[in-house]
Amino acid sequence: MSEKITVSAERTYDVLLAADWRSSLRELTHNKVRCAIVTTQSMKERIGNLEAGDCEFTYCVIPDGEEGKSPAVLMQLWNWLAAAGFTRSDLIVGIGGGAVTDIAGFAAATYLRGIDWIAVPTSVAGAVDAAVGGKTGANLDYGKNLIGSFHSPLNVIVDISWFDSLSDRDFAAGLAEVVKCGFIKDPEILSLMAGCTIANLRADQGLVSDLVKRSIQVKADVVGADFTESYLRETLNYGHTFGHAVEKHAKYSLRHGECVSIGMAFMAHLQLAQGLISQEVHDLHFSILSSLDLPVTYSQGDWLELKALMSMDKKVRGNTLRFVTITEPGKCDRLEGVADSALYEAYGKVSL
Ligand SMILES: NC(=O)c1ccc[n+]([C@@H]2O[C@H](COP(=O)([O-])OP(=O)(O)OC[C@H]3O[C@@H](n4cnc5c(N)ncnc54)[C@H](O)[C@@H]3O)[C@@H](O)[C@H]2O)c1
Repeated sequence: MSEKITVSAERTYDVLLAADWRSSLRELTHNKVRCAIVTTQSMKERIGNLEAGDCEFTYCVIPDGEEGKSPAVLMQLWNWLAAAGFTRSDLIVGIGGGAVTDIAGFAAATYLRGIDWIAVPTSVAGAVDAAVGGKTGANLDYGKNLIGSFHSPLNVIVDISWFDSLSDRDFAAGLAEVVKCGFIKDPEILSLMAGCTIANLRADQGLVSDLVKRSIQVKADVVGADFTESYLRETLNYGHTFGHAVEKHAKYSLRHGECVSIGMAFMAHLQLAQGLISQEVHDLHFSILSSLDLPVTYSQGDWLELKALMSMDKKVRGNTLRFVTITEPGKCDRLEGVADSALYEAYGKVSL
């Protein structure tokens, strides 16, 4: 029996913390007629046989990474489903990183005005962030995630053994979101991570499992209280206002989690200068992120360009930049109307 975390959104569903994702998936699909597995070629080779009861599995192989999150791929998925005669009682399963689960979920949200789907995240970022929370979507030429829908999965199956094959870089990038969860809601995460390096963590499955579980719980609690992001859900964007600007400025050459790490570093400087956090909390950002080899500076930036990119952030109200802040680990607030000079000063500290 798996441990589980229940998410109450527009539907209530469980995130299963599974010892063996295959047997969890078999249990959930054995009474289905058709199931489309949306995945990438490299994952398909690792998935192997999924037969369960009378369920017929069809593979829909999509390009890896952001390329797989395009309207063209979405169109392909719709056509696959229609050609295979998928009905409202059939199922889509997305197996892969956040890019795969985002597009699989969006295909499920839109095909026949919504069919059920299950997420099997294979990356840390996917497990603690993308697959939980019901946001699904695709990219346009003009930007990431510009189309999408809220459509919660039927279940999420998290099996941390997937992480063994992640590169250190992708493993660390996913952990940036775990650190974020520590700062916004669960400071115990920060205590557990203190002094940890990537090597320590990779060697300690129990600790990784605990950190993943805690981060999913943070997301479940926040999403359960504010599914469509009217206020509380914004807190999940701690570090993301500057982070998203860096991500776009770097033309997506950095991992999302690396940009979030730089964004949290920016916030640490800004919050210290504004008297919102203590020197100790400021320093904690840098000790944890640096131990994980996550970047805390971005030297290729241009302040005016980054500021313009920040102004396109979802949290901007009118023309006012708005940041999610913490006052201490676990306590969030918002900051608006910060003087340009203060923002520029914080930028100066991360642009070294
Ligand atoms: N829906 C949401 O709420 C939400 C939240 C955060 C991020 N996202 C989205 O998630 C995506 C980022 O997630 P990601 O970092 O998982 O990106 P990704 O899906 O692009 O995966 C990153 C790389 O890791 C590889 N990979 C995945 N699992 C692996 C494994 N077990 N072993 C080896 N390689 C593996 C992938 O093939 C890919 O090359 C972005 O598209 C982002 O917009 C969505």
